[in-house]
Amino acid sequence: MVEVLNSTTRRWLKAYALEGRRPRRVMDERIPLARPSWTEGMRNAAIATLDSGQWVKGPHGRAFAQEFAEYCHVSYAAPCNSGSGALIAALRLLDIGIGDEVIVPSLTFIATATSVSMVGATPIFADVDSNYWCIDVEDVRKRITEKTKAVIGVHLFGQTYDPALIELCKKNGISLIEDAAQAHGACVLINGERRIAGSLGDIACFSFFPSKNMAVGGEGGMITTNDETIGGRMKSIINHGRNGALQSQEVGTNMRMSEVFAAIGRKQLEHLDQWLQIRRYAAEQYAAAIGSNPLISAPSSFPDSEHGWHQYCVKVEDSEHFIEYMSQKNIDARVFYSTPCHKHPVYATHPQYNETLSVTESICTQIVAVPIHHGLTNEERTRVASALKNYA
Ligand SMILES: Cc1ncc(COP(=O)(O)O)c(C=O)c1O
Repeated sequence: MVEVLNSTTRRWLKAYALEGRRPRRVMDERIPLARPSWTEGMRNAAIATLDSGQWVKGPHGRAFAQEFAEYCHVSYAAPCNSGSGALIAALRLLDIGIGDEVIVPSLTFIATATSVSMVGATPIFADVDSNYWCIDVEDVRKRITEKTKAVIGVHLFGQTYDPALIELCKKNGISLIEDAAQAHGACVLINGERRIAGSLGDIACFSFFPSKNMAVGGEGGMITTNDETIGGRMKSIINHGRNGALQSQEVGTNMRMSEVFAAIGRKQLEHLDQWLQIRRYAAEQYAAAIGSNPLISAPSSFPDSEHGWHQYCVKVEDSEHFIEYMSQKNIDARVFYSTPCHKHPVYATHPQYNETLSVTESICTQIVAVPIHHGLTNEERTRVASALKNYA
C-alpha cells in the first residue's frame, strides 16, 4: 500500500491545480463524485490530431493499443467505442450467442448483463461475496450447467475478483471475460506473480467513460487478451469483420475509437500510475478517518491485491440519512447499485427476476460512494475524511 505521495505525484498535483482551473474557494464548493482530468498536454494532443486531418484509423489508435497492452502485460489490445461495446465484442469473439448461458454478478452496472442479452445469450445472475462485493465463486460453481459458455467477472469499484474464479473457469472448460471497466491499474498477486487487470481472464474489457480511472475525452473502451487466436480477430470484429484485403470474414460492425480519443487516451495513460497513487492515498486517509465509527464500514481490500479505487464505497445502515448528511457538508455521495441487475424491468420475464440473491439484496441499498477521484485537492480529501470521521 502507498503510505505517502511520492514527489513526482506531488509535483503533478501542484501543476494540475495550477493549470486551467479557475481559483476556487474550496471550502464552499460542492465536491463531485468525479471530475475528469484535462491538461495542456492532452489539449495539445487533441488539437494536433484534428489538425493532422487523420481522424480515424491512424497512428494514435495503433500506438494506444500497443501502450495499453504493455501496461496490462498482455500481447493484444484493441481500442473501441465503449466498455459496453468491448463486452459485446468479447462475447462475439468467444462465439457466444443464442442458447448459451453466461454467469454474471447481479451487483454491477447493467451493461455487464445486457451485453449478454445483446448477443442473444442468457445472463445467469450470481450473488456477490459479502466482504469484497465481487462475484461469489461458490455461487458461480453452483450455477454452471452444460449451457454455460462463460462467466463475466467484474472488478467491482476497482477491486479485482477472487483469483479462484480463474481456476474454476479453467477446470470447467468455460471462458472468463474480465469486466475491468472500473479497474484500470488494479492488481492481485497470483502464485507470487503480480497480475494486473486486463490479464486476469481470457478477454478483458475496459471503459473510458469520463468518470473512470482514466478517460479519453468522450466515450471509449479497450479489449485486451493474451490469446493469439482471439487477438488476431479482435481488431477485425470492431471493423466490420474485415481483413487487410477489405473482405469481411465474420459479422462485425464499426466499434472503432476515433484518433482524437486515442491521442487523449495515450496522454491519460502516462498519468495512470500517479493517479492510482492519489486514489490509494485517499483510501488510506478515509479508512483512518472512519476508524471504528460504528455507523460506517470502510470497504475491505482482497488480500494481496492493490485496489484501483474507482469508487470508495462505504457501507451504512441508513444510506438516505448518510447521503443527506454528506450533502449538507457539500459533498456528493451516491448509492451503487440500488437495483441489482436481475431486478431491472428489462429482466421482468427472466426466470431469476423474483429470486433473492441474499448478499446482493442485503447490501445494495447500503453501499454508498464518496468522492475519491484523482482530481481532488488536498483540502477536498481532508473535507471528505473529516465528514466520514464525524458521521453520527
Ligand atoms: C462494470 C461496468 N461494466 C461496463 C460498463 C460499460 O462501460 P461504458 O459506459 O463505457 O459503455 C461500465 C461503465 O460504467 C461499468 O462500470
